[in-house]
Amino acid sequence: MTSFTSHSADLAEHTAFPWLADGLAYGGDYSPEQWPEAVWAEDVALMQRAGVNLVNLGVFSWGLVEVADGEFDWGWLDRIMDLLHDGGIGVNLATPTAAPPTWLLQAHPEIATVDAEGRRTAQGGRLAWSPSSATFRRYALRMVRALAERYGDHPALRMWHVSNELGNENGRCYGEETAVAWREWLTAKYGEVAAMNDAWGSAFWGHRYTSFAQVELPRHNRTQHNPGLLLDFERFTSDALLGHYLAERAVLREVTPAIPVTTNFMVQANPGVADYARWAEEVDLVANDHYTIGADPHREADLAFCADRSRGMAGGRPWLLIEHSTAAVNWQPVNRAKAPGEMARNTLAHIARGADGAMFFQWRQSTAGSEQFHSAMVPHAGADSQVYRDVVALGATLRALAPVVGSRVERAQVAMLLDHDAAAAWASGPKPSSLVTAVDLPRAVHRALTELGIAVDVLRPGDALDGYRALVVPTLFLATDATADAVRDFAASGGHVLVTYLSGIVDETNRVRAGGYPGAFCDLLGVRVDEFFPLFAGDTVALDDGSTGSLWSERVEVSDGTEVLARLAEGDLAGTPAVTRRATGAGSATYLATRLDHPGLVALVRAFAAYTGVTAVATVDGPGMEVVRRVHDDGRSFLFAINHAASDRTVAANGRDLTDGTATEGRLVVPAGAVRVIEEDPR
Ligand code: GAL
Repeated sequence: MTSFTSHSADLAEHTAFPWLADGLAYGGDYSPEQWPEAVWAEDVALMQRAGVNLVNLGVFSWGLVEVADGEFDWGWLDRIMDLLHDGGIGVNLATPTAAPPTWLLQAHPEIATVDAEGRRTAQGGRLAWSPSSATFRRYALRMVRALAERYGDHPALRMWHVSNELGNENGRCYGEETAVAWREWLTAKYGEVAAMNDAWGSAFWGHRYTSFAQVELPRHNRTQHNPGLLLDFERFTSDALLGHYLAERAVLREVTPAIPVTTNFMVQANPGVADYARWAEEVDLVANDHYTIGADPHREADLAFCADRSRGMAGGRPWLLIEHSTAAVNWQPVNRAKAPGEMARNTLAHIARGADGAMFFQWRQSTAGSEQFHSAMVPHAGADSQVYRDVVALGATLRALAPVVGSRVERAQVAMLLDHDAAAAWASGPKPSSLVTAVDLPRAVHRALTELGIAVDVLRPGDALDGYRALVVPTLFLATDATADAVRDFAASGGHVLVTYLSGIVDETNRVRAGGYPGAFCDLLGVRVDEFFPLFAGDTVALDDGSTGSLWSERVEVSDGTEVLARLAEGDLAGTPAVTRRATGAGSATYLATRLDHPGLVALVRAFAAYTGVTAVATVDGPGMEVVRRVHDDGRSFLFAINHAASDRTVAANGRDLTDGTATEGRLVVPAGAVRVIEEDPR
């Protein structure tokens, strides 16, 4: 069986564990507790027919296991663990802490989160608890220990799935116990209150604090809170949630040192409450949830972007898509079912981008409870349904792709920097435009690169940049000195950087870098901006190269030696540089000062790639086709070609189709909506 190397820093003794499944992992969240036991045997039989080899079990089952304070009923969980094992299905066993039992919320209502308006979360949902609640922590860890002691040796157990989407419904707590933890966090960070005052610029509005005890949480206020405080509150919130994960992990490591531990991320949340790139250092396997947004016409681009982000967090190692949906979700305004073939394209796009398994929420569609209209692998209609037939077909495809397990996505020539702090800083307090979001441009540039078949590794500031040819720094609002130095050094050593508007504007305290924008990068780029001119919704500005900008413009001056590639052609700033480039020895530094539309970004990226020598993964003949290569250390490689377009596409490829063995020489036709995975001839 393939083994997998953890990248969690605390794993001194065990760094490798057997891969979770034989081949790619395939399955879903399984909630047998929602069904009479008579259904379980059918479940296992249907799982086997579909090739399911792994389930996430027990995710929200605390109240059915610890039925009263300290009273455990293991019967049903024992039976289903055994049944799954007998059926050859492995288990990611969840610590059920995402949903506190009713008896606990009744006895200790103070464990629940409080929102910014002071409202305490009522019972009746899930994830109601505050990560800063000592009482909650005590109960949760007792539950975790009992679970680990009970099932630590069970042969079905593959991995621990800690809680569920920590922070999803319990991020940002504003209760009194949280306030105490917040002040402790600030004290540990700053030591002296004067340092905190300096960092936040608390002289503004005379907010000077004379002790940490005076600092409140950023609760509801009719005016705006201090951006430095807000950014620290985001960091505190992420740390508080991570602290809960680490506390559970400590118990699990103690009881079951050889079992890997993870928790499911939501990297799609932008910015969410968790700094996942930081959390990734603490999980043995990066596991991500991704749901396409039905109304988004470019949802496959968002998927590709999030998958690349997950891989970046995993340090390029394989990761696990631990939740996605077979069809509709139940939390969007209109819950669109997926088109024929869309589920398979979604799943295989994640695999292409480095996932070594794909799981769904959930196995069998609930008939009761608030997720009763969320799709599943076995829908309300039962096994005689298109969804289940598609699930079976996908299972067969994934079995054929087993040789891919353990390979890595070929290292990209282009890296892109994305940062939770930078996104959180942009979201903190009033900004020049509320129409600009931190992730809009990174995702749009990623989409343009993908359309051209150019791979990109999405990294976090501080990750090693050696070996990349080009680096994109898109609306990285906050840049530390270290980040600014790293980008400058990259360009100085022959790399090509593309920096955009709203990058490097503030430092790590969220204080503006004075002297002209983009403060951290002015010298590198040879540009200086003295005023922002954001555009109103729907307004556009033409550039003299034929492209169109929206959302953003600014008054850019260039220094000697900076070439102007395009200028604004109309409006108050007509004639102002909009795209510039400066040589940095063997490298270069390009600046983009407006939000180009998609064709404009594609043209910009194409020109940038031509100038820098960046090449595509494989040559494709039109938009809508995703191409990604995964490679093994021994040189075996796999080309994934995913055709999202409504017409056939071709890609240059030589090798053998992994699913049916068909040989391809030179040119592979991928029919509209289809996916092909080619084991390539030695290149
Ligand atoms: C996820 C969550 C699952 C389920 C799913 C529905 O955020 O982890 O438990 O609620 O959403 O899409």
